[in-house]
Amino acid sequence: MLSAGGLVAFPTETVYGLGANALDEGAVRRIFDAKGRPPDNPLIVHVSDLEMARGLGDVPEDLASRFWPGPLTLVVWKLAVVPAVVTAGGETVGIRCPAHPVALDLIRSAGVPVAAPSANRSSAVSPVTAAHVLEDLGGRIEMILDGGRTPGGMESTVLDVTERPYRVLRLGALPVAEIESAVGSVSIGGVVGRSPGQKAKHYSPATKLYVAEGDGSRLVAALRDKGMRVGWMPFGAREMEGVEVRVMGRSVREYESELYATLRELDGLGLDAIVVEKPPLEPEWAAVLDRLERAAAKE
Ligand code: TXA
Ligand code: MG
Repeated sequence: MLSAGGLVAFPTETVYGLGANALDEGAVRRIFDAKGRPPDNPLIVHVSDLEMARGLGDVPEDLASRFWPGPLTLVVWKLAVVPAVVTAGGETVGIRCPAHPVALDLIRSAGVPVAAPSANRSSAVSPVTAAHVLEDLGGRIEMILDGGRTPGGMESTVLDVTERPYRVLRLGALPVAEIESAVGSVSIGGVVGRSPGQKAKHYSPATKLYVAEGDGSRLVAALRDKGMRVGWMPFGAREMEGVEVRVMGRSVREYESELYATLRELDGLGLDAIVVEKPPLEPEWAAVLDRLERAAAKE
């Protein structure tokens, strides 16, 4: 299917991706159409190994051999073979080798690098099951490889290695502390325009979302008392009459693996509001906080 220019959704260790042959301009263009993605937002190219990555750009071997396969996307200077549509016209390309057997088998059997953004409609919540992909993209793509629920649930960390110190453009599943243990301090935060996927509103459910200080119980009760139908995502076991409660895991790992599925499930109930208890302001929670803030952003 990939060789024929088709679009194939597949599981990775983070979220489902929507893949096309990265070297086929027409196929890659169809990814943007299927997602409703603005053409100025570059795609990550997925490879099965370091050798395939070397054919696309100037990949730093130390980082790749330490963290691949895994949830680290390296933004590197691109080679001429990478079509402009993949990189949104830029001189850099994001590359990663996913740690998921289905993804690796797919790339190996296709024998080409696979460009793949998350397999959701643009700015929606990333999919962690094949059913989520079907919900968003059914009828718009050729195939979904159903590998069950993804083991992670938080997208890869995006690291730009074309400047010194290296810059984290998107917080993600690989903690910044681990990157720093390998390469020393890095800068954090996108330069405006550098990584358009980082505009505020992103990863958003359709339902209005509030990130509450404290456990959120007062806000939940106040909204409910106004007659609103409310979903609540607290950390510990809680109950509130007339409210859809989904208790969230206390470890970062658990939380990340539940976050998108829970947001999609609550979104599907047609509620008036979702209230999320704010996670602790600690470095290990930074990626989760980032996603919650974007999910709550108005635009
Ligand atoms: O875990 C993941 O990263 C998943 C799985 C499928 O691999 N993919 C994913 O792709 O989340 P996407 O397209 O939803 O997000 C990619 C992010 C965007 O914020 C995009 O702007 C940024 O990476 N990006 C990609 N290539 C870039 C480049 N050359 N320069 C700067 N940012 C880039
Ligand atoms: Mg995405």
